[in-house]
Formats: sequence, C-alpha cells, structure tokens
Amino acid sequence: MNILVLHGPNLHLLGKRQPEIYGHETLADINTTLDQHAAASEHPVVLKILQSNHEGELVSIIGDHIDWADGILINPAAYTHTSVAIRDALATVAVPVIEIHLSNIYAREEFRHHSYISAIAVGVIGGFGSHSYKLALEAMIHILRQTAENYSETPN
Ligand code: DQA
Repeated sequence: MNILVLHGPNLHLLGKRQPEIYGHETLADINTTLDQHAAASEHPVVLKILQSNHEGELVSIIGDHIDWADGILINPAAYTHTSVAIRDALATVAVPVIEIHLSNIYAREEFRHHSYISAIAVGVIGGFGSHSYKLALEAMIHILRQTAENYSETPN
C-alpha cells in the first residue's frame, strides 16, 4: 500500500501556530507518529509525506504520484476552502482520498464551513488535533485492505 500524505500551507509551523487551536505538536512529531503507525501495521504500508505552502506545487505533487499512490491523505489547510485546482488534481488521480483537519472546521468561522475537497473524498476526519491524522491513516489502511480483499475474491 503506497499512501501519499500531504500537508498544506502553514502546517510547517505547527507547534508555534495558534497552539490553542492546532495544539503543541510539530509537523515532525505528527509525521513520526504516522511513520511509527505505518511500521507497526500488519499490512505493508509505504508512506510518502510532503508539505507545501504553494497551491500549484500541491497540484503537481498530486499529479506526479498518479502511478504511485494507492491512497491520499491530505490536510489541504486553507486551500480546503478555496482550491478547485487541488480538488481537480485529486479527482484526476482517482484513488481514495481522506480529508484531514486538526480543528473542527464547522465549529469555527463560517468561511471554513465549505470544503471544495469533501465531495471527492471518501471521508473527512477533523477536530481531533494531531490524532485526526492517525485516525485517517487507520481508515485508509482499512479501505485499501477491503479493496484488495474484494479484488482477490473476484472470480475470473
Ligand atoms: C485546518 C483548518 C483550515 O481551515 C485552516 O486554514 C488550516 C488548518 C485544520 O487542520 O484544522 O490551515 O485545515
């Protein structure tokens, strides 16, 4: 299972960025937890974790992994609420996508209540701080396992 994990703008500043909303863990802490979780999985999981502050770069990264990724975990950060381009890139790659947020975007300002990404995601996990990422990774492993099992059960 090859899983691409993407962090959007300003998430490189986690730990320093509004800790009352986003917590005290750094992005490196979150990535380490994800790597440990992947390594402990009974299924072989390869994670590739990237962060960018630039919309076009995120679009390029997504497209560049069209033949690699079996699933994508993405916290699009502010681009959640603005980016048709990232949505289109994710839809093009056509693998399961899980949208992640540290905060509960529905309990915040109204402009955060709309996501361009949710409609093309299999699910959205938010509001659990850094734990949202771990929950999303578990959900993705579950989805990819089910897909693999269904595929192996399909008669020729
Ligand atoms: C966020 C929520 C977004 O509204 C915000 O712009 C972010 C982080 C979250 O993880 O809670 O940058 O995606």
